[in-house]
Amino acid sequence: MIILCIGIWIIRKWPGLRKDIYKAHLLGFEIECAELASPYKEHLFKALQYIVSNDEMLRSMGSIRILEIGVKTGENIQFYPEGTHLIGVDWNVKLGEYLVKGHRSWQFSHVIIERLIVGDGSSLKEVPTGCVDVVVTTRSLCSVRSIRSTLQEIRRVLTPGGKYIFVEHVPEKKGTCKRWLQIALTRTGIWPSLFGDCRLDADCVAEIENAGFEKVSWTFLALEGYVSHSFHLSLSKQHVFGIATR
Ligand SMILES: C[S@@+](CC[C@H](N)C(=O)[O-])C[C@H]1O[C@@H](n2cnc3c(N)ncnc32)[C@H](O)[C@@H]1O
Repeated sequence: MIILCIGIWIIRKWPGLRKDIYKAHLLGFEIECAELASPYKEHLFKALQYIVSNDEMLRSMGSIRILEIGVKTGENIQFYPEGTHLIGVDWNVKLGEYLVKGHRSWQFSHVIIERLIVGDGSSLKEVPTGCVDVVVTTRSLCSVRSIRSTLQEIRRVLTPGGKYIFVEHVPEKKGTCKRWLQIALTRTGIWPSLFGDCRLDADCVAEIENAGFEKVSWTFLALEGYVSHSFHLSLSKQHVFGIATR
């Protein structure tokens, strides 16, 4: 009887519980993870200094236009050059509250937030073809509805010669116990249902390679360091850092 009551209580509360778990995850673990990745990102994002915009007006001001999918609370904005015109995409409805009205919005004052799109990264209908100099995704491709469609959209919105900068977690090597655990937790739906549709088995490298970019370069790196949920990090520590050119 007690088990039945607990079961009914959990089922009733489940949507709210899921939301709370995911929110705590985004504002806790994901921020710690972004900090661990920070020195490597700083290095990767140095490439932004050498990009010249294809947009005449932005070029005359020495600015570029960046579109970031999964921009969340703006953890990457610190790496964007002064005067960057930013289009933020995220399906978090609180996007505007974080980036424009939030108490941290002063940290984003060196960029111009051109547009915030609440929606799925695999459908960027509101963004004209070839109007973006750089697209960024960091730990976001794992949760989009379709990696392939997202990469097609990234290529479409990028200007010829534009750059796609990515930092994504990738699965462990085939045949390892951790890889099996990643597959099991993802395919049973346990992990995606708790962590915003994140798939631990999503391997974006081959998809990026086959997405039709002119040139792709990348390196693998395991994030190490203290986080409050070490089990979570151990399952999503392997990363690919890279740049693709349209
Ligand atoms: C794990 S967080 C990473 C946030 C940030 N890029 C970073 O590195 O700190 C994933 C972000 O992607 C967003 N997201 C998840 N699925 C998405 C989708 N299908 N389309 C757009 N954004 C999505 C989430 O709301 C969240 O803000």
